[in-house]
Amino acid sequence: MQRSAVPGTRPRVPDTFAENVRYYLTLTPRQLPSRYLYDALGSALFEAICRLPWYGITRAEGAMLAAHGASILSRVDGISTIVELGPGSGEKLATLLASRAPGALTVHLVDMSSAALQAARCILPEHPDLTVHTHEATYESGLLTATRAADTRGRSLVLFLGSNIGNFDPPGSDEFLRRIRGALRSRDCLLLGADLMKPERELLLAYDDPLGVTAAFNRNLLVRVNRELGADFVVEDFAHRALWNGDASRVEMHLVSGRRQHVTVPAAGIEVTFEQGETIWTESSYKYRVGDIRAMLERAGFRTVDQWVDDRFALTLAEAG
Ligand code: TRP
Repeated sequence: MQRSAVPGTRPRVPDTFAENVRYYLTLTPRQLPSRYLYDALGSALFEAICRLPWYGITRAEGAMLAAHGASILSRVDGISTIVELGPGSGEKLATLLASRAPGALTVHLVDMSSAALQAARCILPEHPDLTVHTHEATYESGLLTATRAADTRGRSLVLFLGSNIGNFDPPGSDEFLRRIRGALRSRDCLLLGADLMKPERELLLAYDDPLGVTAAFNRNLLVRVNRELGADFVVEDFAHRALWNGDASRVEMHLVSGRRQHVTVPAAGIEVTFEQGETIWTESSYKYRVGDIRAMLERAGFRTVDQWVDDRFALTLAEAG
């Protein structure tokens, strides 16, 4: 996600894919923003990751939504709008909606991937009480459009699931939660899914699986840079690597250059030399302790209403103060 070049400072965020690649690929260490992992193939590979036995987030969260969906929705009485940021396949929302009480509800799906939006729309139940809007947009602009359109007589619930919060660095997640708070009215709610700290061996298997699906997902970013920006990455010369950074409490995903090589990215106007073993940092996934999650929400102006926790994952319902 958006990362600072110098800790504590935030760069002016570039706009287009080409500008982002130009900016992040020439930073030290080299990076690429993770949101570009999700083109049509990337989104399909991510759906496959969610079904891998080593990747537990989707299953843990799905089980919690199925078990506690009714309590979650009853805690947001008078709900009229749900906004999901990054619905992916839409299955999590469909699970939650299975517990909903009768009454009109408007749902807004916000995703950068049109493939994901289409899939999510199809999986949601058709019901005269349920209106679904899709926004092919960044989280922030989609959220603003959705909340401006929300019925002010009812409450809104924002869903930010899948531990996507963990893909921001800590200053980034604080800032992002504050923006969500800023888009909401007092008494609106946020349901946040966040992955908990667990043994390193388990974490590494979740992000570097024996079938190589996560490796394909990560390396597909280079396929996309080649296709969309005319670059000449030799994809087979870059290996997927996941590592646990205990000091920062995050799993990091990198692409490691197998040899010294030159790559040109014409549409970004750059030419890059990779040393053997040099990496492109493509993603971080922060892991939390239960209390970290409540503290993070409080810093952003939310009050924790309820929290559902098993030993691997936490769902936290918070109300805008
Ligand atoms: N939000 C997901 C997570 O942090 C995203 C993710 C899962 C991911 N597996 C990945 C991102 C592998 C990059 C590579 O778990």
